Amino acid sequence: MSSGLVISAYIISAILFIFSLKGLSKHNTSKQGNFFGIIGMAIALITTILIQQIIHSIILIFISMFIGGLIGIFLSKKIEMTKMPELIAILHSFVGLSAVLVGINSYINYILNPVMLTEGSLYLIEIFIGIFIGTITFIGSLIAFGKLSGKIKSQLSFPYHHKLNAFIFGICCLFLYFFISNDIVLIQIILLTTMVVIALLLGANLVLSISGADMPVIVSMLNSYSGWAAAAAGFTLQNDLLIITGSLVGSSGAILSYIMCKAMNRSFINVIFGGLTQNKIAIKQEDIGRKYNEISIEKLIKILKNSSSIVITPGYGMAVAQAQHSVAKISQKLQQLGVKVFFGIHPVAGRLPGHMNVLLAEARVPYDLVLEMEEINDDFTNTDTVLVIGANDTVNPAAQEDPNSPISGMPVLEVWKARHVIVFKRSMGSGYSGINNPLFFKQNTYMLFGDAKNTMDSILKLI
Ligand code: TAP
Repeated sequence: MSSGLVISAYIISAILFIFSLKGLSKHNTSKQGNFFGIIGMAIALITTILIQQIIHSIILIFISMFIGGLIGIFLSKKIEMTKMPELIAILHSFVGLSAVLVGINSYINYILNPVMLTEGSLYLIEIFIGIFIGTITFIGSLIAFGKLSGKIKSQLSFPYHHKLNAFIFGICCLFLYFFISNDIVLIQIILLTTMVVIALLLGANLVLSISGADMPVIVSMLNSYSGWAAAAAGFTLQNDLLIITGSLVGSSGAILSYIMCKAMNRSFINVIFGGLTQNKIAIKQEDIGRKYNEISIEKLIKILKNSSSIVITPGYGMAVAQAQHSVAKISQKLQQLGVKVFFGIHPVAGRLPGHMNVLLAEARVPYDLVLEMEEINDDFTNTDTVLVIGANDTVNPAAQEDPNSPISGMPVLEVWKARHVIVFKRSMGSGYSGINNPLFFKQNTYMLFGDAKNTMDSILKLI
């Protein structure tokens, strides 16, 4: 294959990957985005296989692709939505491991092939950085997998956590300096091996201290690391497409982590450097015994039928109860009665990025009814009724009203501005952040206690 053809194919793949990311950023274009990604990857794979240097191992490549494809199909059919983060984590560990293997292989080539010596210290820097990021991604993702699947139970943190991380990082930089300025192969191998051991410690320390519930942010951060590891491997393999793809994954993972941190009111820097989760805050004493309104299903039906606009804001409780199908049916019935119904989605509602969007798509709720927080927030003042289904932190007015609240400043769905707010949950218990929610005590709020699926089914029968 001529080099011009290879470059053209790689450029087409890179463009398709960019379109893929663009498509995946919105639910109504996500299928198209996925399709672009598949085509881009197929072109990239075929081109890479056809490059002369690896044509001799084509059978091995096809066997690996076949086995990998089978495992992938099996996993995608079997995996439940709630197990997605741990699957992503283990897959990231493979990217990290690949980057380490590419780095080691490139170094072996370097010392065995005198021609490569002309590549000089830049090549050695690429190898060192590739192995370093790959090792951190590998161990960090393995530990993230262990924690998410419940195989690693504890949240461990060494004393002087951040200082220890900075110290380890500093030592690795020193090793890099000695690695490139030294010509003795034995010393280089010792430095590289010691760096791998140190990077394993750093990667473990970064992830072990994160609490289980904050893991989605760190998984997205590891996604970013895996992209940079791939980009570093791209430099050592001198493969432009791998550099572009790695950078796309690296930067999109970092942007997603940033969006999640912002929406969860966490410090981005703290999370990147393996920051600790804030301690849970107990429900405030003054809220115990405070009066709140309860509502019966019959009275709720009357409110629903008298409303001309309704917004449904689902949260983690809807996912736990698996109530999305009943919620979707209720919204259809209300629309048939002439009520305008929209869904308002908070960026971190649930426990996964896009958790609510996926559940609503599964229940076949039309995309144009599902609005992001920024799109719906201004409309609550003109809304008759809001149905808060298993959501808590994402609709907590304390974020705006109480400067001392741990979630102060977190953007929230301003549901309390509607005429009526109905909260569906099982008790007065707190949500993920463990704090009280003044929404429950507002005059226009009514609590309807019970498992969200049972309550929705009862409403469906009566509506
Ligand atoms: P949460 O604040 O976690 O509240 C969920 C509520 O659902 C709880 O108060 C619980 O109250 C109720 N619930 C649980 N099971 C239920 C059931 N079977 N039926 C009815 N209600 C049920 O939910 P949210 O508003 O979606 O907020 C998400 C939180 O998770 C945020 O704090 C966010 O920062 C955090 N987080 C999000 C992510 C991502 S990426 N989405 C990742 C990590 C953390 P009862 O026990 O009284 O029923």
